[in-house]
Amino acid sequence: MDEKQALEKLTAAGQEHVMKYFEELTKEQKEMLLSQIETTDFTVLSSLKDRKEESVRGRITPLAAMQLAQIKEREAEFHAKGLEAIKNGKVGAVLLAGGMGTRLGSDDPKGMYNIGLTKEVYIFQRLIENLMDVVEEADAWIPLYVMTSDKNHEATVKFLTEHDFFGYRKEYVTFFMQEMAPACDYHGKVYMEEKWKISTSPNGNGGWYSSMHKWGVAQKALEDGVEWLNVFAVDNVLQRIADPSFVGAVIANQCAAGAKVVRKCAPDEKIGVICLEDGRPSIVEYYELTEELMNAKDANGDPAYYFGVILNYLFRVEDLEKIREKNLPLHIVEKKIPYLDAEGRKVKPQEPNGYKFEQLVLDMIYELDSCLPYEVVRNKEFAPIKNATGIDSVESARQLCIENGIEL
Ligand code: UTP
Repeated sequence: MDEKQALEKLTAAGQEHVMKYFEELTKEQKEMLLSQIETTDFTVLSSLKDRKEESVRGRITPLAAMQLAQIKEREAEFHAKGLEAIKNGKVGAVLLAGGMGTRLGSDDPKGMYNIGLTKEVYIFQRLIENLMDVVEEADAWIPLYVMTSDKNHEATVKFLTEHDFFGYRKEYVTFFMQEMAPACDYHGKVYMEEKWKISTSPNGNGGWYSSMHKWGVAQKALEDGVEWLNVFAVDNVLQRIADPSFVGAVIANQCAAGAKVVRKCAPDEKIGVICLEDGRPSIVEYYELTEELMNAKDANGDPAYYFGVILNYLFRVEDLEKIREKNLPLHIVEKKIPYLDAEGRKVKPQEPNGYKFEQLVLDMIYELDSCLPYEVVRNKEFAPIKNATGIDSVESARQLCIENGIEL
């Protein structure tokens, strides 16, 4: 793309300021900027104009979760079924590690965060140790696919390689990168990160399967006989990954997907709840949960929307293939976005200053015909690290690790 074409594309998108410093750039920097303008999809910005004040949802009704007591009754059957699938190489694990972790406030990838007190215990290490428990029990390696982004790929690969993958066999670890989206100010003007670089951020965790496909990693997994993918977040240091009982329960119930859920600790807890929307499995985000839904009761008189998702899902690959090309809704998220000010100085804001555009993995659930909500014990499997202190923090996760006998 030449300078004229770039300017045309920018003008059409109302983003001419991107070339404000063009004349003072070196030849190399000019080329970098032109190539970025060519590949950037500015159409996401138009979702700002089109967005409605309240998102329109379909008719929400309860979706019963498989609860702990029911799981206990069939635990041996589920466990054996799941373990067999794992032994036969049918289960892979996908670590979503492309996020920026801005709330935690570290510049490194979140998985590199050390939560240890008397020794080093990195988030990545905790996750791999959990996965190793299953590898040892099954006596079979589980392919681990790690999604990174342009912002943290190099650092993630370097860190894991330097730590020898915390004992995981490196032949079973495959990296792939997610897509990026431009980030903008409150008026829809994209921010600049450098005079030659538009500010971009990872486009959410919802595109993981299509990115996996773009990188040829999904095709390889299919060739290798992987039928199920357990997708999980980087920040829950207690979660069980490729949990045989969970896998077995989803297979036994012939569902297209499964979602690990926990009982909410308060009706207004900030966690998405699983439900049916127009008869399809779906997730209502905490900020969309009306008073009416919060207080609704099911046929047994229990709260109807009380099982929250913890970003640990099992997907049947065959069904993922069917929805791969579908466009998921775009969420507009307020975030702190580093930028160049009017004088061209770099600013790292302390407060949110604009929008990023994200697709979310939870929206994939609605595209599928069935999903099994599978209850897990909250204090044993849910220790998310979003913040440095307070709720869902390094502090709270440490406490939960100690309660579960994990040495830190
Ligand atoms: P979060 O919603 O906590 O986002 O991600 P985040 O970007 O990591 O953190 P904040 O909001 O800036 O503090 C939940 C999971 O989804 C992954 C994250 O790495 C985490 O495992 N994720 C998020 C991606 O892989 N890509 C993204 O674009 C966003």
